[in-house]
Parts: sequence; structure tokens; C-alpha cells
Amino acid sequence: MSKRIDVHNLNVYYGDFLAVNDVSMTVEPRSITAFIGPSGCGKSTFLRTLNRMHEVIPGGRVEGQVLLDDEDLYAPGVDPVAVRRTVGMVFQRPNPFPTMSIGDNVVAGLRLNGVKDKKVLAEKTEQSLRGANLWNEVKDRLDKPGAGLSGGQQQRLCIARAIAVSPDVLLMDEPCSALDPISTLAIEDLMLELKKDYTIVIVTHNMQQAARVADRTAFFNLEATGKPGMLVEMNDTQKMFSNPDQRATEDYISGRFG
Ligand SMILES: Nc1ncnc2c1ncn2[C@@H]1O[C@H](COP(=O)(O)OP(=O)(O)O)[C@@H](O)[C@H]1O
Ligand SMILES: [Mg+2]
Repeated sequence: MSKRIDVHNLNVYYGDFLAVNDVSMTVEPRSITAFIGPSGCGKSTFLRTLNRMHEVIPGGRVEGQVLLDDEDLYAPGVDPVAVRRTVGMVFQRPNPFPTMSIGDNVVAGLRLNGVKDKKVLAEKTEQSLRGANLWNEVKDRLDKPGAGLSGGQQQRLCIARAIAVSPDVLLMDEPCSALDPISTLAIEDLMLELKKDYTIVIVTHNMQQAARVADRTAFFNLEATGKPGMLVEMNDTQKMFSNPDQRATEDYISGRFG
């Protein structure tokens, strides 16, 4: 299940624009890593390179290496669709398929992969919804539209959908930014549960959230608008928020930034 990510000297481009410059990092399995930093420093861009979603954008390309347990995701012959199955993604706005029922949302990816057996689909539905701490709230209305759930429930539904295909890694881009504080805590509890089985990487603009859930934190920054983002420091979260190695990290986390 859970796998290690090793990034070596990654440059990320939109056409000619270098959006993220020369990032190297290791993300340990069975841990939560948070990316923090000011808007526009390339957190989302870099996150999307970890499952080859970046190249879906016209002009989107990378230089460098992303290894998943020593397997290069960008090696010739690697199928990006298979990569996205292994490295799942949850977005900022909960995006259940609006016309699909709750149950069908959960197994949408499995169906795409060709699973048809009703019993397997039912088992996976329950297992994934339990895994996303949503089963008890929806078990009596699996045939109702996913769009009828609250924002927090919809986000947990999206997490259930992501884990239904048994990924090794879960990427989450500001998964709580559209949620109220109670739903946010529910998602944070869920992340702490999920890290027993998955490698989790989250982008968050909420530094308290990083401090609460992340084992390691990476601070990205940029010199000025239009300049490439870069990784300033990555460290144990406790160290990042108490005694970071870099002055720029200290300035950012203490709000003295900009
Ligand atoms: N689809 C895109 N096409 C061109 N440039 C983009 C695109 N998405 C983001 N960028 C640029 O890449 C840089 C990093 O953006 P982004 O990764 O969204 O930062 P963050 O998530 O840290 O706020 C910014 O300069 C942004 O304008
Ligand atoms: Mg972003």
C-alpha cells in the first residue's frame, strides 16, 4: 500500500514559464506531509506533478524525476492513467459526480477499471465509506444523489471515491478550505486514520492545520510574482514551527512575511 516518494531536481513548466524550480524531497510512507507557502508559490503545481496531473494542462511539462518506491513515474512507457490510480487526488472543492448516487460515486473509478461484479462493488462501497468515516451517515441512502450531502460529507465522499481504487498515495489540495471548522476537524481526524495505510500529502493555507496533522512540513516560497516557486525548507513539523533552519520560514510562520 503506502509508498515512499523521492523527488529529484524537479523543474515544472507551463510552456516557457518555469513555475517551480529545482525541488528535491523525500516523502515517507505512512506519514502526512504538508506543503505551506504564499499563494502562487507553486504548491498546487508541484502537487499535481506527483501523479502526472500537471501534464493534462496544455504546455504542462516537467524535468527531473519523481520516484515512487524507486519507480520513475515519468519513465518512458509508464501509463499516466495507471499513475493516477496509484496516486489519488482530492481537490479543494468537493466534486462528487452530481448526477450519480452516493454509492455510484464511490465505485465510479472501479467501474471505469472494468469491475462489474455487484458483490465486489457493494463490498468496496462499504469498505471505502467506512474508511472515509462516512458509512454510518449514508448507509441508508446510498441510492440518493451525492450532491445532497453537506460540504464536509461530500469531501469525505470524494475521499471514499479516491481510496476505493486502493491507491498507495493520497494527494489533497487544500481539502478543507471550503469547509466549516467542524467538518475540517472531521477531515483532519480522517487523515490521521488514513496515514496508517497511505502516504498523504496535503497543501494547506492553514498553518494550524499543518501543525495539527503533518509529520513533516515543506515551506515553498517565491522571490516575486512571476518568479519560480522553490522549496525553502522541509523539516519535522514540530521543528518547522518552533525552530526552523531558515530565516524565511521563521518569517512566514510568524506572520512577518511580505
Ligand atoms: N494552468 C496554468 N497555466 C499557466 N500558469 C499557471 C497555471 N496554474 C498555475 N499557474 C502559475 O503557476 C504558478 C504557481 O501557481 P500554483 O501552483 O497555483 O500556486 P499555489 O498553489 O502555491 O497558490 C503561478 O505563477 C500561477 O500563475
Ligand atoms: Mg494552490
